[in-house]
Amino acid sequence: MVADYRVKLRDIRTAELEKVLHWRNDPEVGEYLAEESISWREVQEWYDQATANPCIRLYAIEAKDGRFIGYGGLQDIDWAERTASLYIIIGEKDYWDRGYGRTTVLRLAELAFEELELNRLDLAVLPFNYRGIACYERCGFRRVGFLNDWYLRRGKPWRSIHMRMTREQYFVAKKTWSQN
Ligand SMILES: CC(C)(COP(=O)(O)OP(=O)(O)OC[C@H]1O[C@@H](n2cnc3c(N)ncnc32)[C@H](O)[C@@H]1OP(=O)(O)O)[C@@H](O)C(=O)NCCC(=O)NCCS
Repeated sequence: MVADYRVKLRDIRTAELEKVLHWRNDPEVGEYLAEESISWREVQEWYDQATANPCIRLYAIEAKDGRFIGYGGLQDIDWAERTASLYIIIGEKDYWDRGYGRTTVLRLAELAFEELELNRLDLAVLPFNYRGIACYERCGFRRVGFLNDWYLRRGKPWRSIHMRMTREQYFVAKKTWSQN
């Protein structure tokens, strides 16, 4: 097992969706996401789809104190190409910068490459999300390109930075995780 098991990944309970709604409408969280805000109906539709679609994996992130602090998973799983995209949102801001993102990303990479036997993981991140970029790079993701004018934020258009981890990169990175 590769990652430090400070976090537990488990199913999200329907009673917890109100928390998701709260996080998704927190401007300090939403500025880093594709949608800055989301309605209650959209949260419910997202949850129904994420729990029914075989190309999506969704997990609650539970901190070691038992608190539900966010969620993450894999989406757009392409079983033929053996690729997927990784997503993560830690909505409880008190838990930022405490390694929970890194631990969760490592767990999701482990799931992707060792259990699902995928060949590649991708993600997109805004250039001013320094915390996210640092977290992903530390886990072994590398920048592979960008798309201009992808999001409107802070009154101007921003590019999205695209990051990737291949199966080979995962197994190289894994050796360093156990040393850190
Ligand atoms: C992005 C996110 C998943 C990262 O999780 P996290 O638990 O806060 O991150 P970690 O503690 O594992 O790592 C954060 C790293 O960023 C670094 N960091 C924080 N602020 C930084 C800054 N302004 N500049 C550079 N690095 C910074 C930290 O030092 C840490 O690096 P280190 O482990 O080498 O010390 C989480 O903060 C989050 O969900 N944010 C809001 C939503 C979001 O951005 N989702 C991702 C969209 S792509």
